[in-house]
Amino acid sequence: MQMTDLIAKKRDGGALSTEEIRFMIQGYTAGEIPDYQMSAMCMAIVWRGMDDRETLDLTMAMVHSGETLDLSPIRGIKADKHSTGGVGDKTSLILCPMVAACGVKIAKMSGRGLGHTGGTIDKLESFPGFVTGISEERFFENVNRVGIAIAGQTADLVPADKKLYALRDVTGTVPAIPLIVSSIMSKKLASGADVIVLDVKCGSGAFMKTPEQASELARGLTRVGRLAGKKCAAVITDMDEPLGCAVGNALEVKEAISVLRGETKGELLELCLTLGACILTEAGLAESEQAAREQLQRSIDDGSALRKLADLVEAQYGDSRAVYDETLLPAAPVTLEALSEEAGYVRRIEAEQVGLVSMHLGGGRVTKESAIDLGVGVVLHKKVGDRVEKGESLGTIHASDEKKAAEAAELLRRCYRFSAEPVEKPAFIKGVVR
Ligand code: URA
Repeated sequence: MQMTDLIAKKRDGGALSTEEIRFMIQGYTAGEIPDYQMSAMCMAIVWRGMDDRETLDLTMAMVHSGETLDLSPIRGIKADKHSTGGVGDKTSLILCPMVAACGVKIAKMSGRGLGHTGGTIDKLESFPGFVTGISEERFFENVNRVGIAIAGQTADLVPADKKLYALRDVTGTVPAIPLIVSSIMSKKLASGADVIVLDVKCGSGAFMKTPEQASELARGLTRVGRLAGKKCAAVITDMDEPLGCAVGNALEVKEAISVLRGETKGELLELCLTLGACILTEAGLAESEQAAREQLQRSIDDGSALRKLADLVEAQYGDSRAVYDETLLPAAPVTLEALSEEAGYVRRIEAEQVGLVSMHLGGGRVTKESAIDLGVGVVLHKKVGDRVEKGESLGTIHASDEKKAAEAAELLRRCYRFSAEPVEKPAFIKGVVR
């Protein structure tokens, strides 16, 4: 078999066979197929696409490029959640303890953040002493005993994706649905959960800019999940402004705790109830979406979800007292209000730019090796649709020094767009694909 023939076949609109896809992924992972041929193939896929069978074959070939996790020693239904990435996305910190409190096992391998979106692992490290690099043995033991573990990746899962994503990133071939689906689903399938829920972000701060694109991706992801024998659902959510109010690691942890305490409601809680209801119904632990939502709300009302977060922190060697006393979490030494220079109704908040404000303060990673400042970031006081008077605070900057704080306040002001007329907030949940 020759890679040149496969490139020509896809270029001319043909469908690659299962054997051809396996040959290509094995050869590329082993270094036998060069980057220039693989990038030509990716570009051919961008233009010609792949059908469901090809996308599933590509996904499975990627799954088998490395190790896979066998979660069968864990008793009960295991669930995993993935977000396509957004600013201020602290959903896992809320959702995972909620569903674990309802009896679903959470065995989650999570990544670190790069750029303006922090990873769940970074956020969890805000708890003093929290260890994300626990052994596989401890990971399994914690899920069985506590019901939840969230760890940095231990096994060498999906090496083909690491290599392929790095190539796509520099060859203009990231935005192709079959390539995105196989990249995301190969990692989820290799992680071994029975139920997979996907939060597909849509809007200016997301990868998929329009509801149509997001819906196509959501359908592609769930189709491959189901074809691979998993229970799978996707929720399409707005990312035209940051999710919730806090952007920055420890600040996001504080907001997550406030949701788990029942003090903060709104879109964050709604998202966790919607994703959680998908998990509980797919897991067969609730008869209807309404019953699932009631169960999840009860886990907040009776404090069991908050206790589950404390159990998670403790089981991974962190200081669980910080769940109940936020003065034990990292905090920046300087705070400054970013005062509005205009009056009006908030029409837009550039989500990606707000992420960059947090990065400017030291809250994000520029390279994989960069250290991050866990205490810094932004807490927004005004969201889309809100009325703002001149001189009112748009948000509080949490910074390491006065100079950085003043620069960040100016940057944050530039993220806001105003309208003289009242603005209707768009629907936050744009669709659910079951
Ligand atoms: N996230 C991934 O993991 N892979 C993609 O291709 C795009 C987003």
